[in-house]
Amino acid sequence: MQIVSISSLKGGVGKSSVVLGLASAALEARIPTLVVDLDPHGDASTGLGVHARSGKDVGSVLRRPRRGALGAVATASPWAQHPITPETPVATAREWAPDASARSRRPVLDVAPGSAASSHLDHAAFRPRDLRRLETALRGLDRYELVLVDCPPTLSALTRMAWAASHKVLSVAEPSLFSVAGTQRTMSALAQFEGSRVWAVPEAGVVVNRVQDSSPEQQHRLRELRELFGPLVVDPVLPDVSVVQRAQGAAWPVHRWPGSEAEDLARRFSTVLEGLTR
Ligand SMILES: Nc1ncnc2c1ncn2[C@@H]1O[C@H](COP(=O)(O)OP(=O)(O)OP(=O)(O)O)[C@@H](O)[C@H]1O
Ligand SMILES: [Mg+2]
Repeated sequence: MQIVSISSLKGGVGKSSVVLGLASAALEARIPTLVVDLDPHGDASTGLGVHARSGKDVGSVLRRPRRGALGAVATASPWAQHPITPETPVATAREWAPDASARSRRPVLDVAPGSAASSHLDHAAFRPRDLRRLETALRGLDRYELVLVDCPPTLSALTRMAWAASHKVLSVAEPSLFSVAGTQRTMSALAQFEGSRVWAVPEAGVVVNRVQDSSPEQQHRLRELRELFGPLVVDPVLPDVSVVQRAQGAAWPVHRWPGSEAEDLARRFSTVLEGLTR
């Protein structure tokens, strides 16, 4: 099982959107996946068509976590109930469509739903042993090959719990001045995380989102991100395209959304996912 946190200490840069895009790519590739929605706002859950029921959410599990307890609240996303068949026009004729053996696997895309119930951990104070809660709640859930964790935009116990449980952390950045600064904050917080000597720093990457080719200011910030973070900047970058919001509004995976804009975006998410799971 590979656990990947999608994080950023700046709000609104596209963390939940990247989680949704990667979940869509994982579904397309038939990689059994669990999305853990740590954000009390629950945006990733909403995008995946899942709503938390009282007591059946991440926050309730993390209050008193037992080994593998997230499995009990994991809910199938409706995304997985629309299997891709060779007859499905949008998704199949592409060279990056899954191979025949992958296609025959039953799609698994579950969500451990987020809700305000996790707010009790969305603060900076924590005891080091609290940081093991997510790791404990995920332990032994071997039916998933991939776990994607959507983090809140704060350096809270929730975010640190996610980092402590993760093999990789993707920091999402926009090519803008404030977001470059936010990425620097995220990466240095991640490096300091090892300060306790208790946690190994997980492998990190910077996903650049909402790129507009026509903006000289953005191109400047993109160069700045590459200078600052070098090989950590994930290739390809993700464009600013309206299909992101349209697909999210319909709670629909981008890999099954019609049109060339969606096709390009879906291909980019699939490439990012391949890099993660390689
Ligand atoms: N590549 C993109 N192109 C166009 N719109 C995008 C793109 N990525 C994200 N958005 C839009 O930007 C808004 C913020 O995105 P999102 O909610 O994913 O950010 P976030 O970092 O998770 O926010 P928060 O910090 O509040 O959790 C949403 O309306 C989303 O649809
Ligand atoms: Mg979010």
